[in-house]
Amino acid sequence: MPEKPDRGASLRRPAARGGRGAAGVRYLVGHTADLKPGRSMKFLMPVRGVDEECFVINFRGRFHAYVNRCRHVPMAMDWVDNQFFAERGRYLMCQTHNAYYEPASGECIAGPPETCGKALYRTPLEIEDGRIYARPPLEEFED
Ligand code: FES
Repeated sequence: MPEKPDRGASLRRPAARGGRGAAGVRYLVGHTADLKPGRSMKFLMPVRGVDEECFVINFRGRFHAYVNRCRHVPMAMDWVDNQFFAERGRYLMCQTHNAYYEPASGECIAGPPETCGKALYRTPLEIEDGRIYARPPLEEFED
């Protein structure tokens, strides 16, 4: 059995807090120039006092971010570190049991039946001057 790759290799901590707005603290997690279409980047963000692993994607020129937690079993989706895209960048995929998610909405559209129709937990983003800021998800999520 092949050895599992180092999943933490590409994990980034927010470089700085980017400001405070009506929705609370936001975190500078990267720059748009570093995330070309079809690419993803992981980062840690405090959510209710706990560092949560999240990831941001560039899907066809638009940026989306989600908590790195499959809706089938609450575990990280990237068995291979920072590999979320599948089918030539058309979908996001959890590599454990092959749940497929729509990149723009986070909705599960194929995979374990009890997971279909559920959506990844979205991390709201704000893009300003080429900087990507993330805010903690507004919704509660299961452990
Ligand atoms: S844990 Fe993601 S598909 Fe099963």
